[in-house]
Amino acid sequence: MLDVSEITLAAPAWRRRSRAKGPLACLLILPLVLALAACGGSSSSFSIPTTGTPDQRADAVLAKMTQDEKLAMVQGGVTTNLEWGYTIPLGAAGWVPGIPRLSIPALYLADGSVGVGNAVGPATALPSSIASAASWDLNEATKYGTVIGTELADYGINVNLGGNTNLIGREPRDGRTFETKGEDPILAGKITAAHLTAIQAQHVIADIKHFAFNDQETGRTTANVIIDERSGRESDLLAFEIGVKDSNVQSVMCSYNLTNGQYDCENKYLLNEVLKTDWAFPGFVMSDWWATQSTVNAAVNGLDQEQPNQQYFSTLGQAITSGQVPQSRLDNMVHRILRSMFAVGIFDNPQNIQPILGYPPNTQLIPAAADAAVAQEIEEQGAVLLQNAGNQLPLSAANLQSIAIIGSHADSYVLSGGGSAQVQPIGGAMTGPQPCPPCWATVTWDPSSPLIAIQAKAPNAKVHFADGSDSTAAATLAASSQVAIVFVSQWASEGMDEPSLSLTDLTSATPINQDALVEAVAAANPHTIVVVENGGPILMPWLNQVSAVLEAWYPGQSGGPAIADLLFGVTDPSGKLPITFPASEAQLPRPAIPQPPDGVTPFDVNYTEGYNVGYKWYDVNGFTPLFSFGYGLSYTTFSITNAALVNNLSSTTNPNFQVTFNLANTGGVAGAEVAQVYLGMPASLNEPPKRLVGWQKVLLQPGASQAVTIEVDQNDSSHPMSYWDTDTSSWLVAPGTYTVYLGNSEAAASLTKVGTITVGQ
Ligand code: BGC
Repeated sequence: MLDVSEITLAAPAWRRRSRAKGPLACLLILPLVLALAACGGSSSSFSIPTTGTPDQRADAVLAKMTQDEKLAMVQGGVTTNLEWGYTIPLGAAGWVPGIPRLSIPALYLADGSVGVGNAVGPATALPSSIASAASWDLNEATKYGTVIGTELADYGINVNLGGNTNLIGREPRDGRTFETKGEDPILAGKITAAHLTAIQAQHVIADIKHFAFNDQETGRTTANVIIDERSGRESDLLAFEIGVKDSNVQSVMCSYNLTNGQYDCENKYLLNEVLKTDWAFPGFVMSDWWATQSTVNAAVNGLDQEQPNQQYFSTLGQAITSGQVPQSRLDNMVHRILRSMFAVGIFDNPQNIQPILGYPPNTQLIPAAADAAVAQEIEEQGAVLLQNAGNQLPLSAANLQSIAIIGSHADSYVLSGGGSAQVQPIGGAMTGPQPCPPCWATVTWDPSSPLIAIQAKAPNAKVHFADGSDSTAAATLAASSQVAIVFVSQWASEGMDEPSLSLTDLTSATPINQDALVEAVAAANPHTIVVVENGGPILMPWLNQVSAVLEAWYPGQSGGPAIADLLFGVTDPSGKLPITFPASEAQLPRPAIPQPPDGVTPFDVNYTEGYNVGYKWYDVNGFTPLFSFGYGLSYTTFSITNAALVNNLSSTTNPNFQVTFNLANTGGVAGAEVAQVYLGMPASLNEPPKRLVGWQKVLLQPGASQAVTIEVDQNDSSHPMSYWDTDTSSWLVAPGTYTVYLGNSEAAASLTKVGTITVGQ
């Protein structure tokens, strides 16, 4: 018996946040069907329950639904917008029609890994998600998610398709690396969870994707990942487990690829066993776009909603009638969708606006100025200073008479990543070619000028620009300038992988050899600074020839001012790499990306590296990368003293260990350090030499110090001290000796041993 009290959901609830007042205004601005719902035009006497748990409320609604209504809810709707060459909803990536008879709102689905995506409307182009991960700061990650969630809600979107949590460290050439949170499952899981929690706080259902092992774009619809269970649980699946459990995210997007021979959107192990049983995920699984491969298998193995439109699930009703799919499965799918809507407050906080196609460019719907400031802050926290020979940086405006700015349209723009994560930035983008036929992504630059921002910092300096197409002209300009700042960039996109780790100019019909450009400029000016705008690791053959390198990622539409602040020391760089930069492609687990034989035949991608993803792979193989995971420089210096280990593992309520230490800013400017704790597992387990288990970012004024405690909680969703035991199908702590390290990157030279913990038999 349900313990719910019910009241009638009448028109006022739908209009509560409406900018258009009254039924007439509603009817003027809304399409007919939506208007009927929004304006209370339904003749329904059904009352949405207002109390009870999300599950109880969902059951009460489910009990009133007809079979046709249930079937409509588990597949994307078809409407009239032909923007993508197929019928899609009004400006978003997907749509599930509402049911006015029962006051069930429509679902509007839009991308949003780095800001609101699709053609929803102009939105704040945030720095890449990987920049958010590089901040190593969950508060910044919360701000990141809040911008996305708020702007989606302002546009009337109530389901976000961000949350890319694939562990791209397996394949750093992946074209979607910029959307991810790097190579470490715990860092990636925690940053993702912060994004998703913040999005759902705006009453927008968040989504974690692409579940799972979708780690290369090449042949993404036919790649068959081969991986053993323990490796999967301790790597890609761990990132998802943390993301799901820490955020209470209500939707999961299954991916195109196969895992161990089964397509992920009908993969019983992934969907029914791991996600829904082991992790007790209560929400719904939607397919990636056209990733559904069957009706019956998909339904019985755990898919809850086919997107974006009706292909396989259009025959779900017949499969139920014929007994191939139980009615209870359909009811469970609908229950999961409804309970998600209740859980994030979609019923209780109805949107005030319905999405329309292509909001005008100057729309005032979103808080653009405030969000631009957040975008700048995130970039300033996430950019990573990789090199600073002779303290070339920060630049001092007082001493500068001339600055050469070279390349990557740095006079007016910063580059962004492409694909479904593409944001249409406030102020209008500059677009270029579509470099990946038959891929549909267009090179897009965000309107933010590093040059103008740099000139503003050094008003007395002559600032000149060379576009980089002529390296001799660029070198001549550099030779006559006090410093040369070369902007190099690498476009990347969903639908393709990078041709290699070497800088490749995909943005122009006459590509620029950017490595040669940097070398020519560096030869002409000993004070050469390289700013990199890209999505992930690159090779830097010119590294020893330049003074400084700033990894800016795709910096978003406040990138220009953020880069200038970092170069001039208004903000101290404090980002740390969330992904290893290899010294060569030969160091990668797969030096060449596995290629599909054709577009339809599944082909194996064997994850022989197992759980040794990213830095774990380099450690196990004794490779020295170009830059280590966790690495990043600052304009100040820090010291760690009095490090000690406190062992509380015998506690029955909160088994943990703590690393306590004193962190001091020993340099001359304010700055933040990310203290990192790594754990070496008992030798008998054959685990990599160390794994990240905790960290803390601390901002200190010059001369200041702070007592810091990093607690590693064994009950945390990250299972920090455990390994996955395949015999018992559970996380276990093995007997043996655990070694605890503390430092500011995973490179051995950056770490000190704090102590050991012995776990008995
Ligand atoms: C991508 C998803 C995206 C979806 C909808 C697919 O191509 O893989 O990440 O959410 O399109 O745009």
